[in-house]
Amino acid sequence: MTSILITGGAGFIGSHTALVLLEAGHSLVVLDNFANSSPESLRRLLELAGPDAEARLTVATGDIRIRDDLERAFAAAPAGQPIEAVIHFAGLKAVGESVQHPLRYWDVNLGGSRQLLAAMQAQGCRTLVFSSSATLYGMPEQVPIPETAPIRPINPYGHSKAAVEQLLDDLSASEAGWRIARLRYFNPVGAHPSGRIGEDPRGIPNNLFPFVSQVAVGRRERLQVFGGDWPTADGSGVRDYIHVMDLAEGHRAALDTLLSEEPQLLTLNLGSGQGHSVLEVVAAFASASGCPVPYELVARRPGDAASSVADPALAAQRLGCRTRRGLAEMCRDGWAWQSANPNGYGTANPLEGGG
Ligand code: NAD
Ligand code: UFG
Repeated sequence: MTSILITGGAGFIGSHTALVLLEAGHSLVVLDNFANSSPESLRRLLELAGPDAEARLTVATGDIRIRDDLERAFAAAPAGQPIEAVIHFAGLKAVGESVQHPLRYWDVNLGGSRQLLAAMQAQGCRTLVFSSSATLYGMPEQVPIPETAPIRPINPYGHSKAAVEQLLDDLSASEAGWRIARLRYFNPVGAHPSGRIGEDPRGIPNNLFPFVSQVAVGRRERLQVFGGDWPTADGSGVRDYIHVMDLAEGHRAALDTLLSEEPQLLTLNLGSGQGHSVLEVVAAFASASGCPVPYELVARRPGDAASSVADPALAAQRLGCRTRRGLAEMCRDGWAWQSANPNGYGTANPLEGGG
């Protein structure tokens, strides 16, 4: 059993990962300020994890930018089991919002990470899994995209993630002993197959998958497909969707690898290696849900690439695992969540109708 601090553990990817880690027998402290999540996700994942899990999950409500909150989170570990590793999900992730509010993104994503790393150093904890993003690759020249592709983000969100990656480079070069995995996620979607936990975006979803789910469930009238003239097989944009449970299992594998090998800085793509177009996602979701997904073709969205697909070979080799769930399962499980929770976790939604 390892004692792990999970920042942002109540969020979409954090909650699924927390469940996988509880099921693997680990002991967790979740630090979250619930800026984009609800404590209900933690209550439900405890239900799924079974009766003995409750004693292994501590919730520390707080902000990664605040030193006292971090100290409180480290101190919340069970007696005699100090935090050995951190999985750092907490952050802001909306590309459009980052263009409007860059200071917020640099503050939370870079400032918060810096504060967390300082706290880890003070505590003598030097094992970290960091949520990075395929957004770093910007407009990729080469698809599938290897980890060696140039880092050329094109928005403040991506810049802030690139800056944290750089900081982690500098830190691991400065002092021996750091064990760090920078995991570059492609497009995480779907939900736990129970439909009890899932993605609960506030306001109008920016991303394809939650938007399609909300159209299928009748919360939104129709999808706008951004561009039908891309140089792809059917003209719509192609992405590498990864089931959130595969992603969660990837985190467990990354942690196992870090803890069992010599100190190192690992940089890995987490994707399936399979590309699917927007129109393929629409058809797969309609089929999984049995509900129509009306759509209209509109202009391209500024900043989009035609195609973004991971080369997942290095992750498969270093972590010894591959993604197991395909698009049909992503849609089936996403629908299990959306249909049982048409309004997500049911928290007040002050931004509904906003951005
Ligand atoms: P999410 O918004 O559901 O989860 C983030 C969590 O962090 C939320 O629970 C939020 O309340 C918390 N949080 C935000 N600011 C905080 C702060 N200052 N202090 C403490 N907690 C704070 O997002 P997610 O989809 O689960 O993403 C998790 C991580 O993965 C993020 O860092 C994101 O940038 C990265 N990522 C996500 C995607 C994606 O498509 N979902 C893709 C690539 C990378
Ligand atoms: N799309 C639509 N209509 C919509 C939303 C999206 O047609 O309403 C299209 C996009 O044009 C794109 C595809 O669906 O072709 C996927 O778009 P998403 O917004 O779901 O995902 P992106 O690949 O654009 O970006 C997401 C996150 C980024 C992250 C990236 C890789 O928003 O922050 O995945 O992880 F970096």
